[in-house]
Amino acid sequence: MSRPRTVDWAAVADELEQLARVRSAWQRAAARWLAELTADSPPRRILDVGSGPGVTTCLLARQFPEAEVLAVDVQPELLARAAALAGRLGLDARVRTRRLDLNDVTELPTADLIWASSVVHHFGDQVAMLARLASRISPGGLLAVAEGGLPSRFLPRDTGIGRPGLQARLDALMEDWFTERRHAAPGSVRRVDDWLALLAAAGLRPRRSRTFLVDLPSPLDDEARDHVRSMLARLRDLLADRIEADDRAQLERLLDPRADEGVLRRPDVFVLAATTVHIAHTPATPPRPRTPAARATP
Ligand SMILES: C[S@@+](CC[C@H](N)C(=O)[O-])C[C@H]1O[C@@H](n2cnc3c(N)ncnc32)[C@H](O)[C@@H]1O
Repeated sequence: MSRPRTVDWAAVADELEQLARVRSAWQRAAARWLAELTADSPPRRILDVGSGPGVTTCLLARQFPEAEVLAVDVQPELLARAAALAGRLGLDARVRTRRLDLNDVTELPTADLIWASSVVHHFGDQVAMLARLASRISPGGLLAVAEGGLPSRFLPRDTGIGRPGLQARLDALMEDWFTERRHAAPGSVRRVDDWLALLAAAGLRPRRSRTFLVDLPSPLDDEARDHVRSMLARLRDLLADRIEADDRAQLERLLDPRADEGVLRRPDVFVLAATTVHIAHTPATPPRPRTPAARATP
């Protein structure tokens, strides 16, 4: 089997932006939750790391009207989109962008809240990545990591074309693809995907996890249909050498913009997605350096 293909994030900028827009309900609900959690001491500076095209950056800026929000990403094309979106929404006085490779965060300013959605799993050593982020959070500040949840579903179990259960089989193939991709990441360290434990291992105080739903029932509007088509096309491309021939034929039929059974026309497509957000605090006071004098005497 060939090595898993890596994603060229700039090339999928349209998809990323559409995905965040179509599914914005969950980010909005997560931002409200973070506002409740920080009500006593609202964040003054927020970092959206691995921000992509900045849809969530702008949602955070709206949810926290007193905060300046910095979109951080390694892709200048995505940051340009984030800046343009902030301008269109009249948020450019408080939303800034910063090009940076998150493998080294020493140049990042500290923040009271860091939001990292679908980013940490791209790094070989996830605990090291979380620790780097923790190092940029002010004492008592919050790290919110969106990772995991459930595979998104778009199709009825039986589409009426080919063998029923196509999405379950694609999910299983994606699990293998993802596992291979994690193994192939530079410096890859295998860990149990227990995010609260990973946050604790990074020196943070884990607080809790909460899952947010996107539930767009059929019939979908045109943009949501287009999003479903992009997601299925992406699965077809990422899994090109793994999909069985009859499932590939079913997928091509579903992707055909002219076919009545295609996802752009059929009445029964939907979007059901669940994303989990895990949160942790930094200690309220920075840890004191351990000196011989500070050690307990026997
Ligand atoms: C799956 S996208 C997530 C985008 C957005 N956070 C969201 O949830 O919609 C991953 C993002 O991480 C960024 N990224 C990946 N590796 C990075 C690195 N080493 N430094 C900074 N950003 C990185 C990509 O450019 C991309 O925008």
